[in-house]
Order: sequence, then structure tokens, then C-alpha cells
Amino acid sequence: MRNTWSFSTAGQLVFGNGAVAELGALVARRKWQRVYVIADARLASAGIVQQVVESLAAAGIESGVFAGGEPEPAVRTALQAAEAASSFGPDAIVGLGGGSNMDLAKIVAVLLAHGGSPAEYFGWDNVPGPVLPLIGVPTTAGTGSEVSHAAVLTDTDNQIKVSTLSPFLRPALAVVDPRLTHTCPPKVTADSGIDALTHAIEAYTATSFADMQSPPGKPAGYGLAYEGAYPLGQALAEKAIALVGQHLLTAIQHPDDHDAREGMALAATTAGIAFSNCAVALVHGLEYPLGAVLHCSHGAGNGLLLPHVMEFNLPAREAEFAKIASLLGEDVAGLSRRAAAERAVTAVRRLSAAIGIPQTIRDLGGRREQLPGFAEKTFAIKRLLATNPRSATQADLLSILERAF
Ligand SMILES: NC(=O)c1ccc[n+]([C@@H]2O[C@H](COP(=O)([O-])OP(=O)(O)OC[C@H]3O[C@@H](n4cnc5c(N)ncnc54)[C@H](O)[C@@H]3O)[C@@H](O)[C@H]2O)c1
Ligand SMILES: [Zn+2]
Repeated sequence: MRNTWSFSTAGQLVFGNGAVAELGALVARRKWQRVYVIADARLASAGIVQQVVESLAAAGIESGVFAGGEPEPAVRTALQAAEAASSFGPDAIVGLGGGSNMDLAKIVAVLLAHGGSPAEYFGWDNVPGPVLPLIGVPTTAGTGSEVSHAAVLTDTDNQIKVSTLSPFLRPALAVVDPRLTHTCPPKVTADSGIDALTHAIEAYTATSFADMQSPPGKPAGYGLAYEGAYPLGQALAEKAIALVGQHLLTAIQHPDDHDAREGMALAATTAGIAFSNCAVALVHGLEYPLGAVLHCSHGAGNGLLLPHVMEFNLPAREAEFAKIASLLGEDVAGLSRRAAAERAVTAVRRLSAAIGIPQTIRDLGGRREQLPGFAEKTFAIKRLLATNPRSATQADLLSILERAF
């Protein structure tokens, strides 16, 4: 039983159209002089890298660029990026892109400050102290990595996605410019958008902070990777869910609809603040082995699994799911609480199908005999079992996967 919860986010968040033009001045004010930008070839050809470099140059900041980022980055890519960054000798690191590049930037900042290899820092609180100052500049409306304490890599040897979680991984500065997301292709918009919804729903319905177990002798805010659900995080999650309900489909059907892009950018950052304080849970836990083996994007895997995990969790969180249904625009007037809660699952399923998320594990090329292995690997991620509102056995995990198959 815990009596307290704590809240953290990026040191400063600058949000809005044209925010990227302010990046240089924000960096100069902090007296950082040499900045290394972690990006990828697609962002370079979309002209987004250039916007960042120009903003920095206008403020007299020297920059170098790593354009070798990749979706769901592998450990070896992090090592290459760190080597390139180290030879530039930066005093701050920009993660420019989707979650993949922002996470790569976080691991680079760890390696430049503390040396060693990424695996030494996997898990919760294994980063021994402050890292190079981090700046998150998202180009997808999805992960919330610009405000989160997490960095996810793909461990190709062990076929699982692995998180490094540390209070030192929260960026000093997050610059969210919704205009940067306009060039996202529909699949990236859909996958990253449903990831944001997953963050908000998992944070909103997580185990209560009061029921989370602190390691002995550790106060709140130090002891746990995730605090569990609490009112401030849940308020942000509610806002994020409503924004996704209003804007995600439009952002895909009309990629140049700026209101929809801006709504989704706000949803993603808000959901990022919510989950990185409260929790993600079993949707993420099941996606880590599944995504690494089947090579789907994090968002596609989450989107596929989300309604199935919601169905499993529903008996433990009826009131919260009923609220989610109305936040997503469902008319629940006159329904029983149970029926209203079920509408949340229906609404998520309908949205996910409408935006083209794969609907079965088979659609991703998965085979039934792979499911027990996925269940076993998920069952080992204890921090995500602890945050899930309904306790799950390994057999429960297998049965969720079978329903999703
Ligand atoms: N650190 C966290 O808190 C956190 C949270 C959730 C997910 N993640 C991780 O983030 C990754 C997924 O990130 P994502 O969903 O943002 O996608 P992504 O970063 O993998 O990007 C997907 C593709 O879209 C391209 N792209 C991105 N922005 C674009 C733009 N504006 N225009 C054109 N192309 C663009 C990229 O170049 C890339 O090829 C996964 O590795 C996941 O595990 C991290
Ligand atoms: Zn996620």
C-alpha cells in the first residue's frame, strides 16, 4: 500500500506550429554549443532534418547529423550512432523522428556519458546518473518519447524488444511542432496514433498507485518504473483518449488536415506524459516478443492486441472502460455499466479496423506454435504484469494471444 505518487516530465515542453524554428534559441539559452542530431534517411529526404539544422545554425549552434536511424532500432544501430556521435563531440543530443530515433538518441546520450554497451542499462533504474542533455523533437504523433523516461531497442539475439527506463532519460527539452507530422504516410500515422491511444488506455486503467508495491526502503518516485494510475495522470489520459477519438481517422483520411494533425500531436504528447508516470501494461508486454519476432511496427502490434487485452481487463475496470467509451464518442446513455464498458472495446476495434491496423496475428505472418513462446516471454516482464489491472497467469496470456490469433 502506498500513500503518495509523484509526477515527472520533460524539463520544458514547447508545443505548437513553428516550434521547430525556436529550437536554436532554446538550445543557445542553455549554452549548449555543439548538438548532434539523431535522424534517418526518410526524414532527411522529407526536408525535416534541414529545418532542424537551419534552426540551430540561425542561433550559432554547430550540428552534426546521424542519418542511419531505423524503425524499431537494433542494439547494433545504437552502438553505431554512439560511435558517430562520440567522434563529433556534442554537448547535447537531439532525437529527431518517431520514437525510434528519439529512443536511439536516449541510448546515445547514456553511452556518451557512461560508456559500456546498451544491455548494461536495460530494465529499470540501471542508468547510474545524468546523461548528455536530451532534446526530443517528434515527427510522428505517437510514442511520447519526447516526454518519457523510456527508450526501446530491439534485441535481435533474444528476439525481444527491451526497454531502458530511467529518470535520467526524460529529455531536458521537448519541442513538439505538429507541422512536422504532415509528411507521415498513412501507415505511420495509423500505427503511431493507435500506440498513443494504447498509452492512454493502459495508463488510465492501470493498477492503482495505492496498490503498487514499492521495493523496501524506496520512497515513491524512486522505487518504481511506473507509479500506477493516479488522478493527475488519469486526467491527462482522458484528454488524450478524447483527442484520438476526435482526430485519428481524419488524420489518415485527410493527411493535410492540420486540425487533425495538431490534435493527434497533442494526444501523443499528453498520452506520453500519462503513461510514463502511470503505466503501460499487458498490451505492451505482449507486443515486445510478438513485434520482435514478427517484425511488425510497435504500433501495429499494440493496435492488434489492444481490444483483446481490454476484453481481458474489462471485469476489473468496468467504470473506467465505460468512461473510455464515452470519451471515444460512443452513446452509452441508458446502458448498464457493463454494456457501456463493452462499447469501449467495440469502439477501439472499429477504429483500428478503419485505420488499417492488422486484425489478427495471422495477418502479421504469425504461426500458432509461436504463441506459447510469446506468452512465456511476456510472463517474464514482471513490471508490466504488476501494472496490469487484472492479474494474469501465463495461461491467461496464451489465451489472449489465441483470441488475437
Ligand atoms: N520511448 C518511449 O517512451 C516509447 C513509447 C512507445 C514506443 N516507443 C518505440 O518507438 C518506436 C516506434 O516509433 P514511431 O511509431 O514513432 O515510428 P518510427 O520512429 O519507427 O518511424 C516509422 C517510420 O516513419 C518514418 N517517419 C517518421 N516521421 C515521419 C515524417 N514526419 N514524415 C515521413 N516519414 C516519417 C520514419 O523515418 C520511419 O521510417 C518503437 O521502437 C517503439 O518501441 C518508445
Ligand atoms: Zn507504446
